[in-house]
Amino acid sequence: MKRICIIGISGKLGRYMLEHALARGYEVTGVCRPESVGKLDKWRDRITLYPGRTDDRAVVAKAVKGCDGVLTVLAPWGMSNYASGTAQAVLDLAEPHARVVFSCGWHITRDGKDRYSWKLRTIVHLVNVIGRAVRVVDLKDQVEACRRIFDSDRDYTVVRGCDLEEGESEGLPVWSAHVGDPVLASNLVRRTDFALFMVHALTDPALSRQAPAIVGCNTESARTHAPDHVRHADGLSRLGAAPA
Ligand SMILES: NC(=O)c1ccc[n+]([C@@H]2O[C@H](COP(=O)([O-])OP(=O)(O)OC[C@H]3O[C@@H](n4cnc5c(N)ncnc54)[C@H](OP(=O)(O)O)[C@@H]3O)[C@@H](O)[C@H]2O)c1
Repeated sequence: MKRICIIGISGKLGRYMLEHALARGYEVTGVCRPESVGKLDKWRDRITLYPGRTDDRAVVAKAVKGCDGVLTVLAPWGMSNYASGTAQAVLDLAEPHARVVFSCGWHITRDGKDRYSWKLRTIVHLVNVIGRAVRVVDLKDQVEACRRIFDSDRDYTVVRGCDLEEGESEGLPVWSAHVGDPVLASNLVRRTDFALFMVHALTDPALSRQAPAIVGCNTESARTHAPDHVRHADGLSRLGAAPA
């Protein structure tokens, strides 16, 4: 992995991914909305930026050219199929060999085997109804985006994040294939570690064509149910699926 592209690089998750990617020595290109270019001033000399909406196929085509990996923030904004348009552009235009990694939330299910709490179901329902009513957020389009990814023959990883908090990195999150597994019960991860997991997914063969649901490695549920995967001498958690 030498050159990667971050689609949605100016957001909070995008900027954390940028930091982690540069720390690994990757050459980084990125796409962000023109009005957000200034958020990247700090890194201006170290990245190649392609201003544009993340579903703009002409911009995405230029940005992903020659990239071995593409990290995409799937954001369910507006009512113009932004997330599915973004995902489709990456699926169609990334190099054939590229590893493609997408972000979303626990509400996305790949095989229908996730078990959701009433609280999460209620929140997702409310965001769906209110978000569409005010025409600001379209979670159904994020679901459609992921359906297209799962149906593709791409080398993908869809990383499903839980509740997010800011703060210093605690290490690589622990993951499980299904929401509802006890290891995920704490439902909290640092945003920087969500980003760390996205970057890690570029090179971990165990995450190919998977939709890992993640939780912070230092949370109570991770410590209780995946002790072997948490906190090693190098300060990073060892990646692994939780016991079924
Ligand atoms: N927030 C949560 O609690 C949570 C929980 C679980 C999973 N996730 C997932 O984490 C990922 C990142 O979410 P985040 O909440 O941390 O946000 P974020 O990283 O700040 O990313 C938001 C992205 O949306 C773009 N954006 C903002 N307003 C927009 C608009 N009106 N039209 C088009 N694009 C717009 C931002 O670009 P600009 O820089 O141009 O504004 C940025 O690229 C998403 O995939 C989300 O599904 C979030």
